[in-house]
Amino acid sequence: MNKAKRAAVIAGNWKMNMTPSQTTAFMNELAPKVAGLDGCKIVLCVPFVDIAAAVEATKGTNIEIGAENVHMEAKGAYTGEISGAMLAECGVKYVIVGHSERRQYFAETDVTVNGRTKAGLANGLKVILCVGETLTEREQGVTYETVARQTKVALLGVSAEDLRNVIIAYEPVWAIGTGVTATSAQAEEVCGQIRGVIADLYGAEAAEAITIQYGGSMNAKNAAELLSMENIDGGLIGGASLKSDDFTVIVKAAQ
Ligand code: PGA
Repeated sequence: MNKAKRAAVIAGNWKMNMTPSQTTAFMNELAPKVAGLDGCKIVLCVPFVDIAAAVEATKGTNIEIGAENVHMEAKGAYTGEISGAMLAECGVKYVIVGHSERRQYFAETDVTVNGRTKAGLANGLKVILCVGETLTEREQGVTYETVARQTKVALLGVSAEDLRNVIIAYEPVWAIGTGVTATSAQAEEVCGQIRGVIADLYGAEAAEAITIQYGGSMNAKNAAELLSMENIDGGLIGGASLKSDDFTVIVKAAQ
């Protein structure tokens, strides 16, 4: 299988932006712009409180809705957390886990990311698993070790069948929200290495089939080049997913 046969996925990550009314307005604006663009999956991962508005506004469109995290337990005394069953019942199809902001500001570890990955999968969600090195790790030459460890631990106990619902997002931490994009060669190199890790864990066929996104200051200007690389099957987009025109350009670049 080659790139052309893998599912391309362009996903927005709104982070802590947009209220429910702003969400409705945004989706109504975006939907006609991306209508008929079926060369990639189009996903917007939104704050929990925006999910209902997002799902309602995108009914009958080619836009799917994701959440930005999921708790590892099914239910219980976990104040402030949201379960996979809650998300699924709200019409969520995707969930981001292991985003570097969660690791950096909310003490998430490879082990909690593993729990959240399994919880998303157990509830029928497609999991966008984020991995990526910090600037220090890159400078110390341990980029491969870092993403390999993050990928392996996150997927501990995930079956080959469930892996079909996993997307890996390679997001170098130094490129997120900084305007500094990895070069297409840097991004391609690490995405290829991650595919190699999947081959070690699950075999060549699974590695060829898995969708690997790049994320980190992907925008309307640089998306086409990044998306042309053999091992980059999509993007996870922060800042540029908050503007419907920019997001549309990126979706078009993935056609
Ligand atoms: P950015 O964010 O596109 O704003 O760099 C990407 C991400 O954090 O997923």
